[in-house]
Amino acid sequence: MKRRVAILISGRGSNMAALIDAVKSDADFPAEIALVVANIADAPGLVIARQAGVETLVIASKPFGKDRAGFEAKLQAELHTAKIDLICLGGFMRLFTAEFVQNWHGRMLNIHPSLLPSFPGLDPHGQALQAGVKLSGATVHFVTAETDAGPIVMQGAVCVMDDDTPDTLAARVLGIEHHIYPQALRLVASGQIRLDGDVCRTSALVCADGMLVSPDAS
Ligand code: GAR
Repeated sequence: MKRRVAILISGRGSNMAALIDAVKSDADFPAEIALVVANIADAPGLVIARQAGVETLVIASKPFGKDRAGFEAKLQAELHTAKIDLICLGGFMRLFTAEFVQNWHGRMLNIHPSLLPSFPGLDPHGQALQAGVKLSGATVHFVTAETDAGPIVMQGAVCVMDDDTPDTLAARVLGIEHHIYPQALRLVASGQIRLDGDVCRTSALVCADGMLVSPDAS
């Protein structure tokens, strides 16, 4: 049976759109996008979701202020009603309580635009450029109580160019985000991921020659 997924967004929703497209274009995809929830009423991603025929819901977080538990109680009730199995965060800019995270342990994914554990938090591309890394990328991980941390499901890398700005690097990384998030959801939804403490294991791991080099002077 297909796993029922809720995508939580706060903004433009391009990762959400990539997930919706992937699910729609493969009848055998092991998950369906049952609901998109935004905590901001005019999040642009809501329009994309509606156009794609996906049910949407706004739970404005602002009126809850610092009452995170209050917001989460409302969210949890809606997720329960929609019989949601898995949550995918797609640029959802609100922190969860440890209790909510624990409730969804092993069932809530996030994507972050860096090769975690490097550069969590704000301005990951600025952090990457500052550090002078030659490869950056994106990480899909299970959510834990710590921000942008948790068992890593999948990573994709891109080269960092000498003349990159945070914006040009962000655009390159976004391409890999859209590539890996649907693949990671497929792995998780089809049960090909096993959580081994803080580490994700998968038998589906394939890596062409096991090497990724940048800059490549060969
Ligand atoms: C994405 O780049 C995502 O990786 C990032 O927010 C952006 C949302 O874009 N998430 C984080 O930084 C999480 N810490 P989108 O709304 O177009 O998917």
